This record gives sequence, structure tokens and C-alpha cells, in this order.
Amino acid sequence: MINSKHENQNPVQTGFQSANYPGISGKTVVITGSANGIGLAMANSFARQGARLLLVDINDKGLAEAKQELEKTHEGIDVEIRSASVIDDAAIESVFAYCEERFGSVDILLNNAGISINKPSLELTPDEWRHGINVNLNSVFVCAQAAALRMVKQGSGVIINTSSMYGIVAAPHRTAYCAAKAGIVALTKSLAVEWGSYGIRMNAIGPGYTRTPLVDELGKTGRLDLEKLSNRTPLGRLGEPQEMAELALFLASDSAAFVTGHILVADGGWTANGYM
Ligand SMILES: NC(=O)c1ccc[n+]([C@@H]2O[C@H](COP(=O)([O-])OP(=O)(O)OC[C@H]3O[C@@H](n4cnc5c(N)ncnc54)[C@H](O)[C@@H]3O)[C@@H](O)[C@H]2O)c1
Repeated sequence: MINSKHENQNPVQTGFQSANYPGISGKTVVITGSANGIGLAMANSFARQGARLLLVDINDKGLAEAKQELEKTHEGIDVEIRSASVIDDAAIESVFAYCEERFGSVDILLNNAGISINKPSLELTPDEWRHGINVNLNSVFVCAQAAALRMVKQGSGVIINTSSMYGIVAAPHRTAYCAAKAGIVALTKSLAVEWGSYGIRMNAIGPGYTRTPLVDELGKTGRLDLEKLSNRTPLGRLGEPQEMAELALFLASDSAAFVTGHILVADGGWTANGYM
């Protein structure tokens, strides 16, 4: 029978399988916001390919646990952790200086740290607006520039920024978030154009709602209606963190050697859907 409400009652299940990218092995990867969620999934995906990792986050306990988990799961992995906020310019500079000193290069940067800001815009204070733009957009430039200064010397490098489907379409109560994520789209294209001649590729991923522990928790406490979000999604479910990590892996790999300035959206069809 046709589902007249256009709600997806047969969610397309993830037959997800990670691909192999041998060229990633031995590469140095800096991942911001990697103590949890999508960033941690990225760490696992790149570790599986034999990359050397430098994880950056403000959550010290989460970082230590992530390192422990990665070392347990991926035998012989080389992983370092650094406690730093992406909005602290000096701390970020020292992260990249450390990376260069410890690993000898900065090959790949995954600019992933971000916060959600969910508040009616008539109540959003100027400081809250500035903080949202600072964490979600300004930091992306600062980290990208610190990495690129090393990549220019190397003659190569890849930077992947985590935008969002909310950098493409909007939602209420998320002005600073949407503006920052749309800013990442323009920044990604602009720097890809400017830095291409140095051998640096820059792309962005645009996740839709993704089933991180935080999103699951918001669902359990009723602050996000996960069923409603799934029904709004043509594929009938939320994304999985490892599906977002896989996009970054592809974009970082030689398979994407001619891809730069691209925004790779994975949202189960959300942004294509103009119906509800
Ligand atoms: N989960 C989703 O549904 C979704 C959808 C679209 C885009 N995104 C984006 O994906 C990225 C990761 O999100 P997530 O869902 O995994 O979130 P998460 O909260 O699970 O993880 C974000 C990580 O960033 C860290 N972080 C926050 N502020 C920081 C700072 N100032 N400096 C360094 N680290 C900081 C947090 O400690 C945390 O470990 C974010 O940029 C987010 O906007 C997430």
C-alpha cells in the first residue's frame, strides 16, 4: 500500500562497508573534536588504514579514553593526543608545531570540532552569536592556515572541513550554526581555489543528522524527536558516524586526487526533499 504521508516506513538499512585506501597508510592526520562522535569515528577509520594520528579536543578524559580504545583496536597504531581549544590561536599553533616535530609532517587535517547552538534568534545574545561563529567557523580558518603553512613547504596536503546539511539548508533556532556551516562552504571553495597551486586540496563534508552518542542522548531525553527526523529523511533513518568518517577517508585518499572545493553532503536525501 502506498504510504500517503510519505513517511518512510522501510528505512534503507546501512549495508555499510569501509573501503581500503592504501595511500593513507603512514600519513599524519590531525583531527579536531576527536574525543567523541564523528571525530572519533574518523580517528578509527584513518587508524584502520594505518595512518598516524594527532587527536585534538577540549575533553581531556574523552581524549585519554579515545587513545586507549584506538590502541586496543588497532595494533601498532601511532596516536598522540593534545588538549587544546580550537578557538585558542596560540594553542592551535603549538598543536601543529608539535605535529611537525613529532611526525615530521602534517599530511591531512580534519577540521571537525563544532558545537550546536539551538536557541530562538530573538533571544540569542551577541556573545552567544560570536561564540558560535568563533568555534564553528573562525577556528576552521585558523587551523587550516596553521596546517597549510606546513603543507606549502611539503608541496602537498589535504584539508577536510566538517560543515553540515545546515550549511546548505536552514532550520529555525540555529542561526549562528547555519551561518557558520554555510561560511565553511564558502571558505572551503575559496581556499581550495587559492591553495590548489601549492598541491593542497580542500573539501568539506555535510552530514545530515548523525547518530552520535550525543544525538542518541538528546533523543532519549526528548530534546530531539529522532523518529520525526527519520521520517523526514527519504532514506528513513539517521546517518551513522562511520558513514561520515568514510566520506573524509575518500576525500583524503588518492581516489579523490582531482576533487577540491567540493561539499560532499550525506544526509539520506534530507536537502533534496522539499516536500515536508
Ligand atoms: N551529529 C550530527 O548530527 C551532525 C550533523 C551535521 C554536522 N555535524 C558536525 O560534525 C562535527 C562533529 O559533531 P558530533 O556530532 O560528532 O559532535 P560531538 O559533540 O559528539 O563531538 C564534538 C567534539 O568537539 C569537541 N569540541 C567542542 N568544542 C571544542 C573546542 N573549542 N575545541 C576543541 N574541541 C572541541 C567536543 O569536546 C567533542 O569531543 C561538528 O562540527 C558538528 O557540527 C554533526
